Amino acid sequence: MIDAATRLYCLFGNPARHSKGPVIHNAAFKDKGINAVYLAFEVQDAAGAVQAVRTLDIKGASVTIPFKESIMEHIDWIDPTARVIGAVNTIVNENGVLKGYNTDCQAAVAPLVPFGISGKTVCIVGAGGAARALAHGIAAQNGDIIITNRTEQKGRALAETVNARFIPAEEMENIQADVIINTTSIGMTPKENEISFPPEALRSEMVVMDVVYTPLRTRLLEAAEQKGCTTIDGLSMFIAQAAAQFELWTGIIPDTDLMRNTIIND
Ligand code: ATR
Repeated sequence: MIDAATRLYCLFGNPARHSKGPVIHNAAFKDKGINAVYLAFEVQDAAGAVQAVRTLDIKGASVTIPFKESIMEHIDWIDPTARVIGAVNTIVNENGVLKGYNTDCQAAVAPLVPFGISGKTVCIVGAGGAARALAHGIAAQNGDIIITNRTEQKGRALAETVNARFIPAEEMENIQADVIINTTSIGMTPKENEISFPPEALRSEMVVMDVVYTPLRTRLLEAAEQKGCTTIDGLSMFIAQAAAQFELWTGIIPDTDLMRNTIIND
């Protein structure tokens, strides 16, 4: 029931209307019996969004494209990991003090942990925000990272920050890795017929992960399945980052199977 004691959580992004955040967070609040509601706000500027959090005493917020960097200068404290990554995707309102975290990093790594990361060669395709969070998460687990990216300069810059090797996109088919992760929008609707990594370079021993979750079965994951690889779909990371946010806000670990099923059945 929504009443005068209901706590407000929200998403700030632009665009924000397509987000699955409200569906899973509200399902988790209900499941855990928490009197709270989560709404998506398509906002124009980070300063205004943060002011709204203070004014309305919003208890927590998810921050997404394009505000993950610009929001940082408006909040009161930034977690060291978020500072290193250079992006905040979660705000926690702790009695009026707005704290910023980055749950993308641990979320990116969580689905890979069961396969072991330490000592494994992990190839990240792309060098944007998602790639940065992943690269830091994998570096923290002592993975050996290869970055490949369309724009060489951007790829090399990321590789340098995490002590990784850079391999130009034209040489992708020569990449030998245990894990391949697509962090680009290649394969995402409306580019669902494109593939982010050459299928002929996939081998059955590889773990192949995609951060794209629309569609859930991207061309990359389809090709990887055909080769007999282990695949991890984009919902895994999306749900893991949302679950970590939920825990930061409430101190309660949500049911991630419920979150996944809620999205799949939405
Ligand atoms: P996000 O924050 O979601 O990671 P981003 O910062 O815009 O998004 O990064 C997108 C990444 O996908 C970049 O590495 C981009 O490559 P460039 O650095 O060359 O721009 C990559 N990317 C997006 N569309 C691509 C395409 N059609 N082909 C190759 N790479 C693409």
